[in-house]
Amino acid sequence: MSATNDKKLIVGNWKMNMNVHESSIFVHKLSKEIAVHRDVEVVVAPTFLALQPVSLQIERRQFKLASQNLYWRDHGAYTGEVSASQLRGLVDYAIIGHSERRHVFHEHDKDIRSKVQAAIRNGIKPILCVGETAHQRAAGETTDVIHDQLIGGLANVTSEEFSHITVAYEPVWAIGTGNNALPDDAKKAARSIRRQIEHLYGRKSAESLRILYGGSVKSDNAASYLATEGIDGLLVGGASLSVHDFSVIVAAAHDMEND
Ligand code: 13P
Repeated sequence: MSATNDKKLIVGNWKMNMNVHESSIFVHKLSKEIAVHRDVEVVVAPTFLALQPVSLQIERRQFKLASQNLYWRDHGAYTGEVSASQLRGLVDYAIIGHSERRHVFHEHDKDIRSKVQAAIRNGIKPILCVGETAHQRAAGETTDVIHDQLIGGLANVTSEEFSHITVAYEPVWAIGTGNNALPDDAKKAARSIRRQIEHLYGRKSAESLRILYGGSVKSDNAASYLATEGIDGLLVGGASLSVHDFSVIVAAAHDMEND
């Protein structure tokens, strides 16, 4: 774990799964399985629709909430969008620049940096996702892609604001494929992210940055990432839809801290 962050961060990204009712039942079951650990921060990211009801249900010491996206304008004629100012007070975190947003919805760094800015302006901590495609990896471009995405996403973030940022390394080829990156890949990516952040914001910021790994994290491989140098937590997709698997992953983070 990096020097000044003493909590592992485990985030469950439910993507476009579960309706409001199912989300409530799921959170209720999860709350029975997950113990509150001072050394682990647990965050769930349900559909926008479920954020409000789930927020009334949860004990914030046990879970925090993230949105899976947000829009960067605070209000106005933007049909179908949800702004950071509407999410203010409801979520602690926002996942921004997820590869599905980049690749399915064609979000560019310009959008992503505006979203990062909007989140910070509204007291929401951005989880900025970066990661290369299989094609970029094969071409040996992983480091360059990550660096471009960091520079693109963080362009307007000041040194003071940077303390609110978490970076998630999610190689696109590992997402939803069962083809998870090796812990050593995650370690190399984390090192390269920290080097880049040191260059942009100085060593202290680089050391205290929390970096998550995401991409086919399961209950049986989570511990190997949590034990990896430079990795401070996990961004979990499919396995976060199982109460059992997600609780095992959270427990693994706690065990890691207490080994
Ligand atoms: P999977 O864990 O399903 O591969 O998804 C990862 C992810 O995209 C989390 O944001």
